Amino acid sequence: MRKRRRWTAAGFLLLALLLGAGLSAGCGGDGGAAVAGEETVAVTPPRPILRWMGPAFVRPVDRELVARCGTEVGMAIELLPAPANPVDRLGLYLQFLPAESDDIDLIDFDVVWSGTLARHLLDLNPHLTAEQRGEYFAIYLENNSVGESLVGLPLMGDVGLLYYRTDLLEKYGFDGPPVTWRELEEMAATIQAGEREENAEFWGYVWQGNVYEGLTVNALEWQASMGGELIVDAEGKLALDDGAAGVLDRAAAWVGEISPPGVTAFQEEDARWMFQNGNAAFMRNWPYAYGLGQAEDSPVRDLFGVTRLPKGDGPDGRHASVVGGQQIGVSRYSRYPDAAADAARCLTDATAQRRRALADGTPPAMAALYEDADVQARIPAAAQIAESLAEHAVARPAATTGGHYTEISLVYFIEVNRVLTGEQDGAGAVARIGEQIGQWVE
Ligand code: GLC
Repeated sequence: MRKRRRWTAAGFLLLALLLGAGLSAGCGGDGGAAVAGEETVAVTPPRPILRWMGPAFVRPVDRELVARCGTEVGMAIELLPAPANPVDRLGLYLQFLPAESDDIDLIDFDVVWSGTLARHLLDLNPHLTAEQRGEYFAIYLENNSVGESLVGLPLMGDVGLLYYRTDLLEKYGFDGPPVTWRELEEMAATIQAGEREENAEFWGYVWQGNVYEGLTVNALEWQASMGGELIVDAEGKLALDDGAAGVLDRAAAWVGEISPPGVTAFQEEDARWMFQNGNAAFMRNWPYAYGLGQAEDSPVRDLFGVTRLPKGDGPDGRHASVVGGQQIGVSRYSRYPDAAADAARCLTDATAQRRRALADGTPPAMAALYEDADVQARIPAAAQIAESLAEHAVARPAATTGGHYTEISLVYFIEVNRVLTGEQDGAGAVARIGEQIGQWVE
């Protein structure tokens, strides 16, 4: 039997709680034997199920897909409760995976954990045909490829978008949304000045500036769109320069001018709240905010649109949107690696992604589905989401930082936030980031 290392008490307790009474201490329930009198009799048949630590909030469509894929791979798939908080979820994974536990076969993970979890996850390449691989947006294959190994498949598409108020563009005489950051700055300032006459709460541009992963997302979009690298270059070497410092200084100048001072504490929902209540002209957010903004009682219903994020003004400028979203991976310690890999493929195939899209508007991670009339009807921003995923998407350096992305991003968003709050300038941040992450990158 496979070697097992001891779990820490806290990790074990947490998993035991999640699995309920069904889990016997440290034992995966292998077919075993017991001595009854003189005879030896088998007492536990092999566990014929795959266990998936999947979505935190299980919807009817998840149950439907679990049933379908279970039938397809010839095993039952059991959905296990999982922590909703991403930090708790990663903490739990980093308890049972290093312990080489075979209690869990499949896990959902955020796009940024591919490198951190890679050594515990199976290479899914051998389980996909070239045609099946080619169905997913290339950015997800790139993000989830660590060395030669494809450690996860995307359950959904997620990408940064620019939200804008169509009524206000028209009111102030603009033909369309901004193409460059300079245009966004000018339009935000003009609209803000005009709207302030009636609404003291109004701001030009809202985004995510809090000390958390969402700030890394926003700052990397600024860097990439203005011609810079994403902390490291393609080889994983540190690549922060004066250009990067200038980009951070420019964003800091938005704070208190076109963005509220409080933006340095904003997460996605804070930005959405302001935009949806009619108090902002532009917003950076993920696709989920679209459906909510179109709700019956939304003050901005039918008054906004979405487009790609602005590009830098110079010759190096390009549109750049960070990709996000949940991936599914197979534990290397699964006793059913082939069935689990087939289940991962089934749970992310075109049928599954289409069902999720139709059930609750989850954007698919496959280009072809955005051509589907039913998907287009269910996701009004389908064309813009597909464009950003296909043409403007950039991945955070999760796969290229040798399993240290989480630590690197932590340093990065702390130092970037200190630029936004005026505690240091961009050059200071670049120097301090370099000093601290030098231990993990060349
Ligand atoms: C979204 C994205 C995820 C990202 C997070 C940052 O949930 O899907 O990838 O890390 O936002 O706030």
